Amino acid sequence: MSAPRPDARSLLRKVSIFAHLGEAELSALARLAEERSVEAEALVVGQEDAGDALFVLAQGRVKVVLFGESGREVILSIFKTPGDFFGEMALLDDAPRSATVMAMEPSTLLTLSRADFRAHVDRHPRTALEILTELSRRLRRADAVIGDLALLDVFGRLAAKLRQLAASEGEETEAGVIIRQRPTQAELAAMIGTSRETVSRVLSELARRGDVVMTGKRLLLRRSLLLGDAGRGAT
Ligand code: CMP
Repeated sequence: MSAPRPDARSLLRKVSIFAHLGEAELSALARLAEERSVEAEALVVGQEDAGDALFVLAQGRVKVVLFGESGREVILSIFKTPGDFFGEMALLDDAPRSATVMAMEPSTLLTLSRADFRAHVDRHPRTALEILTELSRRLRRADAVIGDLALLDVFGRLAAKLRQLAASEGEETEAGVIIRQRPTQAELAAMIGTSRETVSRVLSELARRGDVVMTGKRLLLRRSLLLGDAGRGAT
């Protein structure tokens, strides 16, 4: 039997649902995994397709999206940390893919076939428990998004999204929190269910008030925004 690639094994170790596995079990899984590289904009998973594999992000960035009839997109989630996984839902409930997944930049993925994934879960009940833990996390996040969509106006939704980005990838400074690679205005719009034009208008208003400072891809969020003063009182 061939030896597992050490890079595949160390990546699988980072996957929350496999982190509990011992070296031998992880090696067995790594032997089954296949590597796949995709270009920016490539379709990785198509909504309504049959689910044939689980994906683990090795490198790059992918987005989970729904497309409306007009072609407008809603971003449900972005995976960008090595070890993030997706494509589990169709493997668990035997229904078609729940959403589309597209590469946002050239990315490398590990895939595990449906049969290998199911066989692994059958043998390792702890993996099933870890999947439930991750699905609960994702459901909590989805609940928060539904709450924001129903309860906040677009000004509040953008402020809430910027606070989330500050918490997940911001860098603390004297002046506030810096996000070095902010999403584009179109991406922000697709994350909070509005148009790019509206995001542009609200960002300009936040900048005018001094709540944010935009310099190219860099975004400085001031304390007024982070502490929640901003985002109330839509214009
Ligand atoms: P699956 O339905 O097989 O294919 C699309 C994948 O996108 C899905 O599995 C999940 O892995 C992922 N996905 C769908 N909805 C969400 C969401 N709200 N948050 C995070 N990931 C999601």
